[in-house]
Amino acid sequence: MRLRRKPWITEAMKELQDEYVYFDGLAEKKGHWQEIFPEKRLCLEIGCGKGRFIVGMAELHPEKAFIGVESQHDIAYYPARKAKEANLDNVKVIYGNAEHLEEWFEPGEIKEIYLNFSDPWPKARHARRRLTHRNFLEKYARLLGTGGHLRFKTDNRILFDFSVEEFKAFGVEIIALSYDLHNSEYENEVQTEYEKRFSALGTPINFCEIVFK
Ligand SMILES: C[S@@+](CC[C@H](N)C(=O)[O-])C[C@H]1O[C@@H](n2cnc3c(N)ncnc32)[C@H](O)[C@@H]1O
Repeated sequence: MRLRRKPWITEAMKELQDEYVYFDGLAEKKGHWQEIFPEKRLCLEIGCGKGRFIVGMAELHPEKAFIGVESQHDIAYYPARKAKEANLDNVKVIYGNAEHLEEWFEPGEIKEIYLNFSDPWPKARHARRRLTHRNFLEKYARLLGTGGHLRFKTDNRILFDFSVEEFKAFGVEIIALSYDLHNSEYENEVQTEYEKRFSALGTPINFCEIVFK
């Protein structure tokens, strides 16, 4: 479904283009991200929504750069605006679909991937759209290379169980797993928009961290 764009967001996005958000010319960036963020460790959040996570993480970690990928035009504007308001030089947003990751990044160019509250796509016939489906894991493995980390949080237990099975089948090392992140030993530096909403309702948050071999 193609969502209708809000005209004011289209205009506001143009003002943030290149400084905070990219929506074309991405193939030219492939292999050059480290030049955009010299000496920073490159991290990607796929499906970044309105950007609470990447902006919060970028503030806490000036030694890292956070690139958010968001496929909905009118949502992708918000993380870019937040990054500008916070005057951050270590955040960029890509308005695009993660299907195209390998057109934008060279193998090994990214060091950490974050998936937060990914769309569950509950129907079996849509399983390939889940961002933890093995087809996506193949892309992530190439982008990250050996030793790359992926951290995944979700309120959705069905998606979580599916994802853990995909991780096992793919042969990654699972180094952390919790069905209740907020009451676990694991660090959780920044809560996402969805995480705040679900945890306020008392929903436990599932968490898994994997390392690609
Ligand atoms: C449920 S929201 C979660 C947003 C945010 N990560 C959070 O935790 O608050 C999922 C977001 O992922 C985006 N998304 C889903 N599939 C995507 C894809 N293939 N590529 C890029 N973004 C995607 C959606 O547009 C949506 O904004």
